[in-house]
Amino acid sequence: MSDLKSKFLEVYSTLKSELLNDSTFELTHVSRQWINQMLDYNVPGGKLTRGLSVVDSFKLLKEGEELTDDDVFLACALGWCIEWFQAYFLVLDDIMDNSQTRRGQQCWFRLPKVGMIAVNDGILLRNHIPRILKKHFRGKPYYADLLDLFNEVEFQTASGQMIDLITTLEGEKDLDKYSIALHHQIAQYKTAYYSFYLPVACALLMINENLENYTDVKNILIQMGNYYQVQDDYLDCFGSPEVVGKIGTDIEDYKCSWLLVKAVELANEEQKNILTDNYGKEDPICVGRVKDLYKTLKLQGVFEDYENKSYEMLINSINAHPSKAMQAVLLLFLGKIYKRQK
Ligand code: IPE
Ligand code: IPE
Ligand code: MN
Ligand code: MN
Repeated sequence: MSDLKSKFLEVYSTLKSELLNDSTFELTHVSRQWINQMLDYNVPGGKLTRGLSVVDSFKLLKEGEELTDDDVFLACALGWCIEWFQAYFLVLDDIMDNSQTRRGQQCWFRLPKVGMIAVNDGILLRNHIPRILKKHFRGKPYYADLLDLFNEVEFQTASGQMIDLITTLEGEKDLDKYSIALHHQIAQYKTAYYSFYLPVACALLMINENLENYTDVKNILIQMGNYYQVQDDYLDCFGSPEVVGKIGTDIEDYKCSWLLVKAVELANEEQKNILTDNYGKEDPICVGRVKDLYKTLKLQGVFEDYENKSYEMLINSINAHPSKAMQAVLLLFLGKIYKRQK
């Protein structure tokens, strides 16, 4: 494990024990144990790309300036706030998407003792963020901006989740409603803001920058987030669950997946009928027919082309950015996700 990652995980333990000893609510032994388990189950087990990117970005933006231990701790704490945010959305997303597994284990709500308590756990995960921020950032000049940033991004993400969920009602009537523009809108809101813009915006606030001056950076990060969601959609169908850590549900759930949009674009009338008859069904035979059609339409190759083109476009936008430090931030982030298998 890298030094940064082990340092980062140490900060998780510190933040967790602070929350377990939060005096605002008198935790009983049983409730303290619940939170302890709930956090360990849902917060630290992902790739940690978002959280670590706060720390990486902060370091790069400081451009080799000496960093104090305090600075590094704060950057890690902010990174964890995003991982808490991620856990909050994933716990609820798995209920809404009727998923089975996440990060190589049963979804939290699938545990017999948890069930719909997971809904309140999601709310608690969200509430932990302002508690962490209050404890560690209250005196900072950027404290109000930080709270506002998390609120704004939460609104964007929840709105993205809403359109992800309600467009399936339209799609069920007519698959032609699923377009690349709609996919882009869903991905931008449900994924890109919190996964890509938020980590870099957190690092910028830590160096006292005004986020209004960074709309160009925001636009590049949104493109990156869109690419990330296309990868997620691809892996949902073509990734191996042992590697990705989750079993796909997009076909069963009638999702406006990038693969479905491409399939509708490329299909002839007969193939479109296969989609209409089989998409959005729980029956594994129907799911199999959709996957077979994806293969007939050579969507794996279409995805590879998309991936190469997106990468090239992103590299060009990044190279056109005037600041070398910001270029380094964006390149490092892109490097972490390019051709990812999980
Ligand atoms: C899953 O995100 C949800 C999306 C926004 C695509 P990740 O695949 O980054 O999940 P973890 O945190 O690494 O498990
Ligand atoms: C990801 O949605 C966005 C959020 C959870 C906010 P997905 O439903 O596509 O993500 P996975 O595939 O379940 O991780
Ligand atoms: Mn999901
Ligand atoms: Mn997905």
